[in-house]
Amino acid sequence: MNRPAMEGVRLNVPSSVRHAQLIEWVAEMAALTEAADVYWCDGSSAEYDRLCAQLVAAGTFRKLNPELRPNSYLACSSPSDVARVEDRTFICSEKKEDAGPTNNWMAPGEMRELLQTGPNALFRGAMKGRTMYVVPFSMGPLGSPIAHIGVELSDSAYVAVNMKLMTRMGAKVLDVLGTDGHFVPCMHTVGAPLAAGQKDVAWPCNTTKYIVHYPETQEIWSYGSGYGGNALLGKKCFALRIASTMGREQGWLAEHMLILGVTSPSGKKHHVAAAFPSACGKTNFAMLIPPAQLGDWKVTTIGDDIAWIKPAADGKLYAINPEAGYFGVAPGTNDKTNFNCMASLKRDVIFTNVALTDDGDVWWEGMTDTPPAHLTDWQGKDWTPAIAKETGAKAAHPNARFTVPATNNPALDPEWDNPAGVPIDAFIFGGRRSTTVPLVTEARNWVEGVYMAATMGSETTAAAAGAQGVVRRDPFAMLPFMGYNMSDYFQHWLDLGRKLEASGAQLPRIYCVNWFRKGADGKFVWPGYGENMRVLQWMIGRADGTAQGEETAFGVTPRYGDLDWTGLDFTPTQFDQVTHLDNAAWKTELGLHAELFQQLAYHLPTELIAAKAALERRLAA
Ligand code: OXD
Ligand code: MN
Repeated sequence: MNRPAMEGVRLNVPSSVRHAQLIEWVAEMAALTEAADVYWCDGSSAEYDRLCAQLVAAGTFRKLNPELRPNSYLACSSPSDVARVEDRTFICSEKKEDAGPTNNWMAPGEMRELLQTGPNALFRGAMKGRTMYVVPFSMGPLGSPIAHIGVELSDSAYVAVNMKLMTRMGAKVLDVLGTDGHFVPCMHTVGAPLAAGQKDVAWPCNTTKYIVHYPETQEIWSYGSGYGGNALLGKKCFALRIASTMGREQGWLAEHMLILGVTSPSGKKHHVAAAFPSACGKTNFAMLIPPAQLGDWKVTTIGDDIAWIKPAADGKLYAINPEAGYFGVAPGTNDKTNFNCMASLKRDVIFTNVALTDDGDVWWEGMTDTPPAHLTDWQGKDWTPAIAKETGAKAAHPNARFTVPATNNPALDPEWDNPAGVPIDAFIFGGRRSTTVPLVTEARNWVEGVYMAATMGSETTAAAAGAQGVVRRDPFAMLPFMGYNMSDYFQHWLDLGRKLEASGAQLPRIYCVNWFRKGADGKFVWPGYGENMRVLQWMIGRADGTAQGEETAFGVTPRYGDLDWTGLDFTPTQFDQVTHLDNAAWKTELGLHAELFQQLAYHLPTELIAAKAALERRLAA
């Protein structure tokens, strides 16, 4: 069907597309943005190769040495477009209270005027001289009852190829959509229209940026950035912000959580979902290799960043990974910190903002102990260890990323693509805290667990633009990703727990962890990485009724003898350093909880206020 859009561009609708509302929307958006052409992605490998070749010709991609890194590319972004822009991210609900105090808000009408309807609306003519890619994608296995579909319209071929790796993308999704299936419209432009004859730049973007969500109409509008979560709209915008509002309405959970399978030496399998803020080691934890001395434990990856979790008829919570690839932080990743990840990255990768070696491969800080003698850094400048010593210049940007299909992961769980999902036995919440929060604590009940998750704090990282290393409250690791009022979200968790408990279901246990306590020398005390298996093993033991712990003011924690130390030299003194509860530090911590509760006072569940008072009483006792 070669229907012209309102202002003349050919829509190039494939004959297999039968969804009138989708065609109508594409026509409307092509007219608004004045796109020069419309291309419907079929999701094939041939299309991927063609678009990548086009990106190489445009200077956006550099093809890496096929002998060292087959089928892989490097993109380097504009220095002004390197991370998620939380201060430019908006939740435009009708009422400000529904976005809540943790989100930027603007009235939908006002935002629409700015972006779409006003005389100088940013999307008007924004795709002049560019192709608009129609990218249909499924978040989750095609046709799964837990999955949902989105369609992203973007003027970035970089986005289209990344979406191919990160989601189930292309014609098969349109087949599932049929004539009237539901999809979330995701509108994206880099905001860099081209005048006739104007030469393009390698990384088009705009200094003005808007990442906008309309929860009531389930729409996403993103302007001005081509990077990561700002532009790959299936990830944070849909799978967390919009999906969290869908989950609230429909009785399920959209969470910033990895999902892993843990199989014990006896062959019994458990599933765990764990929430950590951005760049706190979720991908490492999701691909963990257990220490051999602990016996034949196996950890397998279902997801590394996002979980959609729905209650099933048996009263249990079942989770899928809505994504099909990993968009992970490269710096710090090496054979010791994440062997499975390094194995995943051997081929078929899109790297963004890492450094280029002289033989056409990639490098980043922490990849090897000794850096190469010469590199081209992520900004295209010469880099040597001597220059780095003198100027502090990083070869790779601290938020440099890889995009790779999940199927490259040697530890991929055989159930990762199961449309029914996997049953969750435990939830883990962990922040990056140099002090105060102990290695692991089990909540005594669901409400206490929700309190732990709600009051979680973490030191900020390079995943978002802004200051780093500052402790901020990051409830459920969802602070930048909540699609509605945070207190209503706490209530949703409490309501869901109550409902499941009333149906007689065994609720997953909830744990708070902290891998990041530091000693007086400023170094991490806990070895982390594969050794985190010892903590997982204790949790599994708790679920099976075989592991012991002791009650503290905060919850139940293992004593030194309750963990298996086979093969690790970790002394009781070190254990005390990562577990002890410092009363003075906890007084300060509770002051910060109080500040958070003050900020979230509107609709704050009374159960959480009571949980805080109980914790205060226990600490004072
Ligand atoms: C991510 C993030 O990219 O959390 O996953 O920032
Ligand atoms: Mn994330």
